[in-house]
Amino acid sequence: MRRWLESLGRGLLFAANFLKHPLTVGTFVESSPALVKRLLDGVDWQGCRSVVELGPGTGAVTRELLARLPPEARLLAVETNADFVAALRRTIRDPRLTVVHGSAADLRAHLRAHGLGRVDAAISGIPFSTMPETLRGAVLDAVRDALSPDGRLLVYQHSNRVLPLLRDRFAHVLGETEWRNLLPMRLFRCEQPIHEEVEAGSPG
Ligand SMILES: C[S@@+](CC[C@H](N)C(=O)[O-])C[C@H]1O[C@@H](n2cnc3c(N)ncnc32)[C@H](O)[C@@H]1O
Repeated sequence: MRRWLESLGRGLLFAANFLKHPLTVGTFVESSPALVKRLLDGVDWQGCRSVVELGPGTGAVTRELLARLPPEARLLAVETNADFVAALRRTIRDPRLTVVHGSAADLRAHLRAHGLGRVDAAISGIPFSTMPETLRGAVLDAVRDALSPDGRLLVYQHSNRVLPLLRDRFAHVLGETEWRNLLPMRLFRCEQPIHEEVEAGSPG
């Protein structure tokens, strides 16, 4: 009963915030368990020490991710919506999790502020297709630059619109569709970040 009430509360919070901020929240229900499982399966989370989640919302992915990460891992979750930040901080008590109220575009600064360097993996549920073009590029550059050379980015979106931008930044991008979500979702698994060459003599 308690779990059902908590889940109902999260659902109402999510829907209310979609009505207030449709473009940044992007969808009216949190991700389904089937979507979360499909997104996270196939990654060796036990081998990860630091992970970032961009746009955790009410924590559908966050909770399952914490269940899969090892005890010494750190998870930095970056969220712009103050209601979601407050709910995450109130409902998920896990010393491995840090919830940052801020934008994914400032990921480098957030990582630095929390003593983290390059990360093993990043997960993004941010709705890229409804976001201004310059912000979209800034977020994708920041997350690419935050990944270690063998790190990976997992993205879930309602459309394929972000795909060319992912291909500009990652040597390998694999796309798939999860139908068991209220609206079907495209998943993109991105590996081998492409870092632009820094010219010799430039300050880098
Ligand atoms: C589609 S919801 C995903 C929620 C959750 N991860 C899930 O799977 O149910 C997108 C989330 O991205 C957040 N968001 C949008 N733009 C953002 C940005 N620039 N930085 C961080 N979070 C952002 C929204 O507030 C919202 O919580």
